[in-house]
Amino acid sequence: MGQSESIREALNFEERITLDNWVHRQVSISDYHSFHRESLERFEEFWAGVARELEWFKNFEKVVERGDYPNVYKWFVGGRLNLSYLCLDRHVKSWRKNKVALIWEGEPVKDDGEPLETKIFTYYDLWRYVNRVAYVMKEKLHLKRGDRVAFYMPMIPELPILMLAASRIGVVFTQVFSGFSAEALASRISDLGARYVFTTDGYYRRGKIVRTKEIADKAVVECPTVEKIILVRRVGNTETPVNPERHVYLDDLLKDVKPNTYVKPEEMESTDILYVLYTSGTTGKPKGIIHDTGGYAVLLHATMKWVFDIRDEDIYWCTADIGWVTGHSYIVYGPLMAGATVVMYEGAPDYPAPDRWWSIIERYGVTIFYTSPTAVRAFMRLGTEHVTKHDLSTLRLIHSVGEPINPAAWRWLFELIGGGRCPVGSTWWMTETGGILISHAPGLKLVPLKAGTNGPPLPGIEAEVVDENGKPVPNGVKGYLIIKRPWPGMPGPPTGMYGDPERYNSVYFSRFGYFFTGDYAIRDSDGYIWVLGRSDEVLKVAGHRIGTYELESALVSHPYVAEAAVCGVPDDVKGEVPIAYVVLKADAPSSAKIVQDELRKWVRERIGAIAEPKSIFIVSRLPKTRSGKIMRRIMKALATGQPIGDITTLEDEAAVEEVKSAYETLLKEISGKSG
Ligand code: WTA
Repeated sequence: MGQSESIREALNFEERITLDNWVHRQVSISDYHSFHRESLERFEEFWAGVARELEWFKNFEKVVERGDYPNVYKWFVGGRLNLSYLCLDRHVKSWRKNKVALIWEGEPVKDDGEPLETKIFTYYDLWRYVNRVAYVMKEKLHLKRGDRVAFYMPMIPELPILMLAASRIGVVFTQVFSGFSAEALASRISDLGARYVFTTDGYYRRGKIVRTKEIADKAVVECPTVEKIILVRRVGNTETPVNPERHVYLDDLLKDVKPNTYVKPEEMESTDILYVLYTSGTTGKPKGIIHDTGGYAVLLHATMKWVFDIRDEDIYWCTADIGWVTGHSYIVYGPLMAGATVVMYEGAPDYPAPDRWWSIIERYGVTIFYTSPTAVRAFMRLGTEHVTKHDLSTLRLIHSVGEPINPAAWRWLFELIGGGRCPVGSTWWMTETGGILISHAPGLKLVPLKAGTNGPPLPGIEAEVVDENGKPVPNGVKGYLIIKRPWPGMPGPPTGMYGDPERYNSVYFSRFGYFFTGDYAIRDSDGYIWVLGRSDEVLKVAGHRIGTYELESALVSHPYVAEAAVCGVPDDVKGEVPIAYVVLKADAPSSAKIVQDELRKWVRERIGAIAEPKSIFIVSRLPKTRSGKIMRRIMKALATGQPIGDITTLEDEAAVEEVKSAYETLLKEISGKSG
C-alpha cells in the first residue's frame, strides 16, 4: 500500500465508523479553537495560570526566557519546587495520606493462575520508603545535589521509589530500559558520568529470570565513574558472586534506617535537571534529553487533567515500561502528582496466558487505560475470548501512544475493550517533548472526538504542518510537523541535550528554525492533526525508538562485517521492523546461515533484543550516492514495493539490482513457507 493510500485511509476513517454514543460529539470544534487561540494570545499568562495550580516553595518571577544556548529556554524562572514533594508530601499532608498510590503486580502466578505477589502502597507507605531510600543515598552513598546516578531497573516498585528518592535530594538520574544490553547501558552511564548504578539481582519476564546484575557488571568495566553497584533484591539470588568491593544490597543499606526517617526535600530551581533520558536519533550515539523540574511538572500536571481527566476515584493504568519516557511521565511523575491510584505490572502482557492484561483490569477495576497500538495488534491476533471472559466495565477512558493507531486497532480498543462507552484517543508526543502535546482532551470537555486522529494541539501548544521550505501546507496535505513555540516540558537547560548544546540545536532547529519533530503529519479541515510516522531514519519497532545508525554501528563493529545498512519495513504487529543489508569481509564464513545467526546474536548483545533485525541480507555492495552516502531510501522503497524515485545521484545501479533480488528471494522463501 502506497503512502498516499494510507493517508486517504486515515482521512476517511471517521466516515467508516458509525458511533451512536460518540462522546462529547455535541460540542463544536470551533469552541475549542477559540479557547486554544486565546491560550496562545495570552501565552505566558495562560501557562502561569496552570503553573500556579502546583505548590511552589518559592514563586516564579518569569514564565519563560531564553537560556544560555540557542533554543534552550528556561521555564518558570526563579521558582523553586520538588517533584518528590509534589508526588508525596503534598498528599501525605492531605486526606490522601492513606489513599492507595501504587498497586503493583509481579509476573509469577500460582497454580490457579492468580498472581503470586501483589504489593499495595498508600501515599504514606510510599513517602516513608522514599524518605528512607533518600536517606541512604544522601548519608550512606554521599550523593549530593547535582550528582548523577544510573538506574537499570525492571518494573518493580523500587524503580519509582528510586526515582522519587533521587528527585527528593536533587540527584540527576538516567533510567536505562532493562531490556538494553551491557554496551547500551555502559554508553549511557559514561555519557552521564554516573557515580552509582542501581539494578536488581534479576527480574521475571515471560516465566524466566533475566539476570540484570551480570549485565550491569559487564557494563561498568568500562565506566570509571561508577563507585558501586547497588542491588535491589527481586529474585533472591545472583548467578555470579556478590563482591563487597563492588556490590551492596539496598536492603542491607536500609536495615538500620528507621521507618519514620525524614529527609527534607531540596528546594530545586525550576530550571534544574530532573533527569536525562537517552533516545535514538538518525545519526550518532543516543542523545541524552534533559528534562527540567518546573516546566516538566507543569506540563504533566496539565495533561493529567486535560488528557486523562484524572479524578480521585480513578484506577489508572499505563502499560508502558518505565524505561521509556511514557513511564517516566505517565506512570511515575504525572499520576502521582495528581494523587492518583496507579497500577504497575512487572511482566509480559501474555504471561501465563493471553488474558493477563484483561485480568488486571478486572482485578483492580481499572478506569483509565493507556496503552500502545503494537500491543493491541498483538492481542488482536489471539481472538476475542481472552478479552470477553473478563469484566472490563469499569473502564471509562482509553488512550494509546507511540505510533499512529491503525483503524482496526482503534476499533478493537473502542468496541471490544471500551465496550463502545469510552473515548479512545491517540496522544502524540516524544521523549523530547516531556509530555503530551497533541491529543484529544476529554478532561476539557471541549474537543469532539474523531477516531484515529491525534487531535488538535493542546492549549498553549502551537503546532504547524509545513512543507520543505517551512511554509504551512493546506489542510489535507502531508507535511512536516513542527512546534512553533517553546513549551513547558521541552528539553531543558542548560544544554537541551546532555553535554551537547550544538547537537541539540542542529538536530531540532536547523531545518525549519522551529522545533522539528521528525514526523510527517497532515492537518484536516477541522484542525485535527494526523501524525503519519517518521520522516527520517528513526525506526519505531513495537513503539520503541531505534536509530538506524545505532544498528549499523553495531553491525559494522562485528569482525565479519565491512559495511552495513539498515532500514525499517512494515510489520503487522510491531508496526515496523528493521532489516539489514551487510557486505562481508573476505575472511567471513561462507555459510550465510552462520553469519546471519551470529549477527543476530551480536545485535542482541550490543543493543538489546528489540533491535534484532528481522532479516539480514548478504550483498556484495550497497546502493550509495557518488559521495558515498548509503541510500536507505532506495532500500526501503524496494522492500516495501514502492517506486524507488530519483536515483540520479546513485553511484552504481547494479547495487540496486542486488538489493532488490535479495529481497525478492526472501519474499519467495516466506510465501513458500506459508503456502
Ligand atoms: C511517534 C513516545 C503517531 C512519533 C512518547 C514520535 C506517535 C515518536 C504517537 C516519539 C501517536 C508517538 N501517533 N505517532 N499518538 N505517539 N508517536 O520518543 O513518530 O519514544 O516522533 O516517545 O513516536 O517516540 P518516543
